[in-house]
Amino acid sequence: MIDILYLIAAICFILALQGLSSAETSRAGNLFGIFGMAFACLAVYLSIDTSDMWFVISAIAIGGSIGVLIAKKVSMTALPQMVAGFHSLVGLAAVLIAFAACFAPALFHIVGENGIYKSSLIEMGLGASIGAITFTGSFIAFLKLQGTYKGHYIPLIANAVIAVLILGLLASFIYTENVQLFVVLTLLSLVFGATLIIPIGGADMPVVVSMLNSYSGWAASGIGFTLQNDLLIITGALVGASGAILSYIMCKGMNRSLFDVIFTSGVYSSASNKSAEIKPFKQGAAEDAAFILKNASSVIIVPGYGMATSQAQHALKELGDILKKNGTTVRYAIHPVAGRMPGHMNVLLAEANVPYEDVFELDEINRDFATCDVAYVVGANDVTNPAAKNDPTSPIYGMPILEVEKAKTVLFLKRSMGTGYAGVDNELFYEQNTMMLLGDAKKMTEAIIKAM
Ligand code: TAP
Repeated sequence: MIDILYLIAAICFILALQGLSSAETSRAGNLFGIFGMAFACLAVYLSIDTSDMWFVISAIAIGGSIGVLIAKKVSMTALPQMVAGFHSLVGLAAVLIAFAACFAPALFHIVGENGIYKSSLIEMGLGASIGAITFTGSFIAFLKLQGTYKGHYIPLIANAVIAVLILGLLASFIYTENVQLFVVLTLLSLVFGATLIIPIGGADMPVVVSMLNSYSGWAASGIGFTLQNDLLIITGALVGASGAILSYIMCKGMNRSLFDVIFTSGVYSSASNKSAEIKPFKQGAAEDAAFILKNASSVIIVPGYGMATSQAQHALKELGDILKKNGTTVRYAIHPVAGRMPGHMNVLLAEANVPYEDVFELDEINRDFATCDVAYVVGANDVTNPAAKNDPTSPIYGMPILEVEKAKTVLFLKRSMGTGYAGVDNELFYEQNTMMLLGDAKKMTEAIIKAM
């Protein structure tokens, strides 16, 4: 009975991932995820000793209530931090279970005549080590995304030495079964998680988050072997593999290799802190923008992080509808790393009921900027920055960008001439065909609607 429930839950999780891969089926995917988790909980409930029942129910009640509170309180813009925080907890759980198994192996049925089974030592060692790296790494990612910590430079050689030490400790622990080595291995992995993520910055942050997602899955899967829990093994592997694939896709989107992101990043360089020079630029008002938009026959809207912070998506939809009524073709261009999490822009546009068929990915629309009248850039910056193509010293060099500069007119909505996430000045602000519309994106879009 329990195995069948686990199987149903595993199938639900696979269908959930499949559903979540497209906007149209994402609601169904989410429902499959909820059902899968409900079946999994039911299976655990049926498999435990009745004397432990209250313990388990209280844990679910406390954890569940904290989850509901956080989910209700968190704002859309703080979702990436929340995800990083949750990964951190998965890592911590893996470490705690590995410790429990190491100090009380008999309870986990992993002891034979010659001591703890070798396979269990490998699982515990890997689970504790990957879990510890995920725990501190995700915590640092949380602080960076929250904006409370910027990062420091850490030489690659230091990380390489720690990595070699960890591998050595892991091998010695498996060979000797020495508990002290296990503790040192975990402590060093905690340090490694932090030193690995501290130097990564700027444009590589999205990959870090999905990479930690993947780590948390592998840690859970490793621990699933120790607990002899098939569902944890399957679910962990699903999270691990999907996180790894997402990291790969995002690396491709940014034209970086995963190896470069993890090991040669050091992006936390002085280049990312350059303060913007003051150069002449063209500033417009809502009325000017309304005039230009009224006369445009095609407009491409480019949303970025500023759309999320100002919650401008509903005003944008309204503007799009007015333009369409005016006979203008309106499309939305989404960069794979616009905003602060994968799919950030898609979610917000879907919330405002922007039709899916109007929303295009970078590859699908980039060629059309050359023939469009207006590129309406709403709180996007790095994803449009030509320095990614022209300046080999730039931290975002090599990242494909939305080529808004090719449009006849570029309307740039942001509050100041400041930089975006990667801290790089954007030369587009000073171009002849650019008009800066300085102000909050939502208020400015509403003012343009009014002027129209
Ligand atoms: P950014 O380059 O961060 O630019 C956002 C711009 O929005 C800023 O320049 C800011 O300028 C403006 N802004 C902020 N609040 C605003 C408001 N209320 N009204 C109007 N404008 C506002 O964003 P992007 O172009 O979307 O690029 C994303 C960046 O984040 C990339 O570097 C990417 O690598 C990184 N990142 C992405 C992710 C994922 S997974 N998508 C995760 C972590 C990091 P002002 O301050 O002048 O207003």
